[in-house]
Amino acid sequence: MLRVMNVVGARPNFMKIAPLYAEYGKRGDIEAILVHTGQHYDRMMSQVFFNELGLPKPDVYLGVGSGSHAAQTAEIMKGVEPVLLERQPDVMVVVGDVNSTIACGLVAVKLGIRLAHIEAGLRSGDRTMPEEINRILTDAISDLLFCTEQSGVDNLVREGVPAEKIHLVGHVMIDTLLANLSKAESSKILMNLREQGHLNGGDYAVLTLHRPSNVDSLAVLERLLDGLDVIQQDMPIVFPVHPRTRKNLDDSILSPRLKSMTNLVLTEPLAYLDFLHVMAKARLVLTDSGGIQEETTVLQIPCLTLRENTERPVTIEKGSNELVGTDPARIAEAYGRIKKGCWKTAQIPPLWDGRAAERIVDILVKSL
Ligand code: UD1
Repeated sequence: MLRVMNVVGARPNFMKIAPLYAEYGKRGDIEAILVHTGQHYDRMMSQVFFNELGLPKPDVYLGVGSGSHAAQTAEIMKGVEPVLLERQPDVMVVVGDVNSTIACGLVAVKLGIRLAHIEAGLRSGDRTMPEEINRILTDAISDLLFCTEQSGVDNLVREGVPAEKIHLVGHVMIDTLLANLSKAESSKILMNLREQGHLNGGDYAVLTLHRPSNVDSLAVLERLLDGLDVIQQDMPIVFPVHPRTRKNLDDSILSPRLKSMTNLVLTEPLAYLDFLHVMAKARLVLTDSGGIQEETTVLQIPCLTLRENTERPVTIEKGSNELVGTDPARIAEAYGRIKKGCWKTAQIPPLWDGRAAERIVDILVKSL
């Protein structure tokens, strides 16, 4: 019996662990333990995903909550150490690049427990991003590194990771997307927004924003609003607001400006199926998220990434993504091309076929 401890903490982790749980359930030789650090704790940032994605109730909930990076990382480390000592798993599985990823990984390897990192090798080249530090450090201490795209493999090889530790397996988040696409069709979200008078049945855009580099600076936020203003005068923009962004906007002098943009439709963070539905039917998506660049590639929806770099280059090379930064003129220019129908046709990256979790679990079982 292989004992696998799995870590989730923040919103983007849940859809990545869910397909692994589905796969563990098909095998008789795996005991899975689910640890939720509590990095995200609001119902719409956490609980709702457990219900929709069929994840079991966590075996352990650390309840660390928010804090500075040092405080949050330290609380997670202190919380997970006794859990590892008590449960003694054969391997710990961590996903992505959030503080929960590095915090749990670091404690595991120091206790001699093998570490598997899913979404390994992605690099933006921008060390001011907290996630970039988490990626580099987690990869440096992992025993098994599972990559979503070839650039991840190449980065790891360049950094000296032995080839036998690296596995290109595709993308567990895309497993979840493909498994839920038809279910999302029955979401009532668009109907509700129409009934509330926000959408008119024509084209609309979707926006997400939460990166500190975008939402913690008033000057950047203001530039972004200038760019978005051009679009919202032409079509509605559905904007599910992340708690971090909500706090910064509500407290800021930009709040009246925001209220004057009547075609910018602010909502609470959306549940998984609702967001998938809104995104799948959109004319375009504007985002600073990592995962959404990948999801729009699979959905073949034009994506304008409001950043100067991406750790997911395949979404540009093969997908529907383009980097536009935060300059209003660049945003407006790209929007104009989408409106004219001048946008590239996305190809699905290799192995993004809904079977990444199966490949990962096969390798876990064989190599441990
Ligand atoms: C974290 C991840 C980021 C990921 C994002 C997805 C790190 C370093 N960052 O950023 O990579 O893309 O999650 O959402 O791990 N808050 C709430 N309710 C919650 C969670 C947060 O109100 O359930 C508020 C708190 O005021 C908190 C702030 O949001 O201070 C930011 O949360 P935090 O977990 O620190 O980082 P995120 O910006 O969400």
